Amino acid sequence: MANDRLVGKNVLITGASGGIGAEMAYLCAESGARLILMARSLDKLEQLKQNIEARYGVEVLIYQLDVSDTNAIETVFSEVLQALGHVDVLVNNAGFGIFRPAHESTIDEIKGMFEVNVVGLITATSMVLPKMRERRFGHIINIASQAGKMATPKSSVYSATKHAVLGYSNSLRMELADLGVYVTTVNPGPIATNFFNIADEKGTYLQNIKRWVLKPEYVAGQVVERMLTKTREINLPRWMNAASILYTLFPRVVERVGKRAFNQK
Ligand SMILES: NC(=O)c1ccc[n+]([C@@H]2O[C@H](COP(=O)([O-])OP(=O)(O)OC[C@H]3O[C@@H](n4cnc5c(N)ncnc54)[C@H](OP(=O)(O)O)[C@@H]3O)[C@@H](O)[C@H]2O)c1
Repeated sequence: MANDRLVGKNVLITGASGGIGAEMAYLCAESGARLILMARSLDKLEQLKQNIEARYGVEVLIYQLDVSDTNAIETVFSEVLQALGHVDVLVNNAGFGIFRPAHESTIDEIKGMFEVNVVGLITATSMVLPKMRERRFGHIINIASQAGKMATPKSSVYSATKHAVLGYSNSLRMELADLGVYVTTVNPGPIATNFFNIADEKGTYLQNIKRWVLKPEYVAGQVVERMLTKTREINLPRWMNAASILYTLFPRVVERVGKRAFNQK
C-alpha cells in the first residue's frame, strides 16, 4: 500500500515507538515520506529509524519527547520547524488509558491521561498550526477512539479525554475549512497493541473481546491511505460505528439492550 501524496512530505508522528504509531511510520516511509518520529523511548525510536532507513531509504528524524511536558513540546517542535521549515502531516497518536471505575481513579491517573491525550495533543497541534495556516496546506490527524463516541463502564476518564479530542478536532476542522488544511479524527475500537498492558492489567477485557480486536497494521493502513485527503473521521470497525450512531440517536435503549456488551471490562 502506498500513498503517492506523501512523496517527499514531512510526516510527524507522536507516540511512534510502538503500536499503531510505529506501523504508520513504516507505511509512510514506504510511500516516500520524510519522517519525524517522537516518543519517550529513544532506544525504540533508534531501532525503528535503523529499520526504516535500511528498508526504504527515506530520512528519519527522531526526538525523545514526553507529550505531558508542554515546555518540551514547544522546544522539540521549534527545533523541527527550524530544521525542516514545516510539517505537512501531524499525527497526534501518543496516548494511553487506564480502565478503572471512576471512584477508584486517582488524581494522578486522571491528570496523566488528560495531560497526554488532550493537553499534549492540543499543544502539539498549536505548534504546527501557524505554518499550516500560512501555507494553506497540511493535515492534522488526531487518534481518538470509539471511546470518544460511546463511553462504557470503567473507562470514564479515558473516554472523557477522547470525547475532548473529538470536540477540539470538530471545532478546529471548521476553523480551517477554507484554508485547505484538513483535520481527521481516527476512532478505532480495540487494537492488539501494548495499550492493554497499562489499560487492562489483568487481561480480562482483552480476553472477553478478543474476537473484535483489530490488527495494528490494518488500522495504520486505513490512516495512511487517507493522509492528505479531506477525511472527516475514520471509524473502525464499521459495525462499532453503526452502534455509536444508534447510541447517539437512542441512548437509553442502547444502554439497556447493550448492558452486557458494555460491561466487558
Ligand atoms: N489499542 C487500542 O485498543 C486503542 C483503541 C483506540 C484508540 N487507541 C489510541 O491509539 C493511540 C496509540 O495507541 P496504541 O494502541 O498504539 O498503544 P501503544 O502500543 O501503547 O503505543 C502508545 C505510543 O504512545 C507513546 N506514548 C505514551 N505516552 C506517551 C507520552 N507521555 N509522551 C510521548 N509518547 C507517549 C508510547 O511510546 P513511549 O512509551 O516510548 O513514550 C507508544 O509509542 C493512543 O492514542 C490510544 O489511545 C488505542
